[in-house]
Amino acid sequence: MNGGRVFVLHIALQGCLRATDVEYGLTADTGGHIRYLLDLVSASGRHPAIDRMEIVTRAFRRMAYAECYAEPIETIDGTTRIVRLPTASDAYLVKEDLWTEHDSLVEALIAHIATLDQVPDVMHAHYADAGLIAARVSARTGIPYVFTAHSLGRVKLAAFDRDCTETAGLDRRIAIEEEAIAAAAAIIASSRDEAEVQYADYANYDPGRIRVFAPGSDLKQFANCRTDARVDALIDRFLDDPSKPVILAIARPVTKKNLAALVHAYGRSPALRAAANLVILAGTRDDSATLEPEIRDNIAELLQLIDRYDLYGKVAYPKQHRPDDIAAVYAYARTRRGIFVNPALNEPFGLTLLEAAASGLPVVATDSGGPNDIVETCGNGILVDPRSSTAITDAILKILDDLALWSRYSAAGSVAIRAYDWDRHVQLYVGLLDEVVGTAALPVAEREPALLLVSDIDGTLIGCAQGVGDFAAWHAAQTDVAFAIATGRSFHSAMAVLGQHDAPRPAILITSVGSEIYYRTVRGAVYDRDTEWDGIIAAGWDREAVAALIGQHAGLTPQSPLEQRRFKLSYFADGDVAAAERVRALLAEHGHSCSIIHSHGRYLDVLPHAASKGTAVEHVRRRLGLEPRQVIVAGDSGNDIEMLRSSRHAIIVGNYSDGLGTRADLAHGYVAVGHHARGVIEGVAYFRSAAEQSEPLAAVRKRAS
Ligand code: GLC
Ligand code: MG
Repeated sequence: MNGGRVFVLHIALQGCLRATDVEYGLTADTGGHIRYLLDLVSASGRHPAIDRMEIVTRAFRRMAYAECYAEPIETIDGTTRIVRLPTASDAYLVKEDLWTEHDSLVEALIAHIATLDQVPDVMHAHYADAGLIAARVSARTGIPYVFTAHSLGRVKLAAFDRDCTETAGLDRRIAIEEEAIAAAAAIIASSRDEAEVQYADYANYDPGRIRVFAPGSDLKQFANCRTDARVDALIDRFLDDPSKPVILAIARPVTKKNLAALVHAYGRSPALRAAANLVILAGTRDDSATLEPEIRDNIAELLQLIDRYDLYGKVAYPKQHRPDDIAAVYAYARTRRGIFVNPALNEPFGLTLLEAAASGLPVVATDSGGPNDIVETCGNGILVDPRSSTAITDAILKILDDLALWSRYSAAGSVAIRAYDWDRHVQLYVGLLDEVVGTAALPVAEREPALLLVSDIDGTLIGCAQGVGDFAAWHAAQTDVAFAIATGRSFHSAMAVLGQHDAPRPAILITSVGSEIYYRTVRGAVYDRDTEWDGIIAAGWDREAVAALIGQHAGLTPQSPLEQRRFKLSYFADGDVAAAERVRALLAEHGHSCSIIHSHGRYLDVLPHAASKGTAVEHVRRRLGLEPRQVIVAGDSGNDIEMLRSSRHAIIVGNYSDGLGTRADLAHGYVAVGHHARGVIEGVAYFRSAAEQSEPLAAVRKRAS
C-alpha cells in the first residue's frame, strides 16, 4: 500500500476489451461484464483511497478485429492502464476455450508482476477463468484476490436440459469457478439471490465471504423521462380507451419471463380489465414466423391468449420500437398512474425494475431473484409469487385502487438512483479492499468483551434513522462491548440492511431466527459460519418432510424462496392466531418436534427443535466464555421472546408488539421508554447502573479457554 492507498490489479480475459468505444456484441463475450469493469474502474479512479489500477487481459490478433487488441499497454489515465499479456496462442479465444491458456496466463502474469515497480495490494478477478488465474498467482505471490463471477455456470446449467451437449463446457466452467471461489479473500455479488441461491450449490460455497454490493446503473434518462407523441401513438392504436391506467411489462418473450401469466391474470380478472389497459413490450419482430423457436412460441402464446380472453382494445403489444423509445414508454405508463409488472419465474438481477423505479412507476415483481433487493431498498412496490395469478392480480389492484399508496411507491422509486450508483458502490468496495489488504486485528472489545450486546434488527435497532445514528455514535464510544445481531433475516439480508442504515458492523450475526451464526474474522472483511452450531441443530430436523406436511395440510402461504433456508421454513400467517398451534399439532402427530415462532401477527417460522434466537445467544455466550450476567439482549417482537425469556438482562424497546411488555414470562425484562435503538441504549445504561450497584460487569470478565 502507498500511504494507505491501494493498488488494484484487475484481471478480465473475456471478449474484446479496450477503454473506449467498446465494440459490444462484436463477439458473444464482448458484453456486460466489460461495461461493469470499466464503470467500476472509472468510479474507483475518483476515490481517494485507490492509488493505481491495472486491467490485465490477453493479447490477441485477428484479421477482422482492430489492431488495438494486441497492443501491450493502453493508458486510460494517470491512475489506470490496460495491460495485454501475450500467451501461448495469439488467436482470439471464445470464453469456452480460455482454459487452454490458463498455464501460460499464470506464468505471464507472474512475470508481469515481477517487472512492476510496486507489487499490487490486491487482485480483482472478473469471471471464472480470471478467478482461477488469480487463485494460482495468489498461491505463488501471496497477493490476495477478490472475485466477481458476473454469471455462474451452475445457473446456466440449471437452465439447460441435463443431457444437452452444451453442458460439457459448463462442467469445466463450474470446476474452474470452484477453484476461483475456494481461495478468494472475498466475493462480490450483485444481489442477495446471487449470494444466497446462485452460489449455494458450489462445493466451496461460504456465505460469510460473499458481500452484496449493488452495481451502478445509469438511470438519469429514466428519472427525467417524458412522453413522446410518436411512442404514444405506437401504443394508443391498440386501445379503446387510451386514457386508462396502464399495466406495463417489458421483457424478452422467453419462457422464463412468464409474460403469459400476466395475460392470464388480466384475462381472468374483470376488475383488472375494468381498471387498466395492459401494455406488453416483448422485443421487436418483423415476421414472427421466422423468429428463433422459443421466442416464436412465446409470441404465438401471447397472441393466442389475447384472442382466447378476447382482449382486443385492451392490450397493446407493439411490434416494433427503438431502444431509445423505452424511456418514453415508462413515461406513458407513469402519466396514466400505471404499474410496472415483472412476473419472471426467476429474474437474476432486474434492470427493468430499476428503470421503472427511476421513472416513478410502482412495481409488482417476482419474489424470485434480484427484485427482492430492489423492492427492499426502494420500498416501491410488492413482491409476488410469479406462479400465482391471483397474487399478481391482487397486488396490481391493491396499488391501482389506492392513490396514496401509488404515490408513495412512485416517489420511493427515486431511491434507486442513489442506491444503484457506482460512487456508492465504490465506497463499499474500498471498505472491503481495506479489510482484505489490511493487517488490523479485531478491536479488543470484540476479542475480549466485558459485555455482549445482542440486538434484533427490525423494530429494535432499526426503525428510526436518528436512533441508528445515536447508536452508531454510542457504539463507537464503547471500549468493552461486543455488538451482535440476532435477526429473522438471512445473513446477506441483514448485512445489506445494516449497511443501508449506516449501522455499525456487528462482531457476530445470529441470523434466520437463530438457525445460523457468523463471527467476524480477524481481517474483518468476512465472517466465519459457526458450523458447530449447524451440527447441533441439525439433529432430528427433516426439512423435506416438515415442508411437505405444512405444504399439504397447514393452509399457509410460503414466504419468498429467498426466505427458505436450510434450517428455516417461513410462511405468512396474517391474523391467523391459531397457526402456530395448528402447525405444532400437525408436526407432532407425525413425530416432528420443531421450534415454531409466530411474530408481528404475520410471520410463522419453523426451525429445528434446538434452534431459536435464545438458544443461539446461549451458544455464542459459552463460546466466548462469558457469564450470563455479561450478556444483554434487546428485541421488540414475537421472534425475540425466546431470547428475552432466557436472558437475565432483557431489553424490550418501547415500540414492542406481540404483547411483549405485559407477558408474565418477561417480567424480568426492562421495558424501555425510548423506541428502537434509543430504547436499546437506554436499556444498556439501566442494566449497567444496576450492575454497578452490585458487581461491575467488567469484574466478572472471564477469558475464553
Ligand atoms: C424476517 C425474515 C422472515 C421471518 C421474519 C420473522 O422478516 O426475513 O423470513 O419470517 O423475520 O422471524
Ligand atoms: Mg424485530
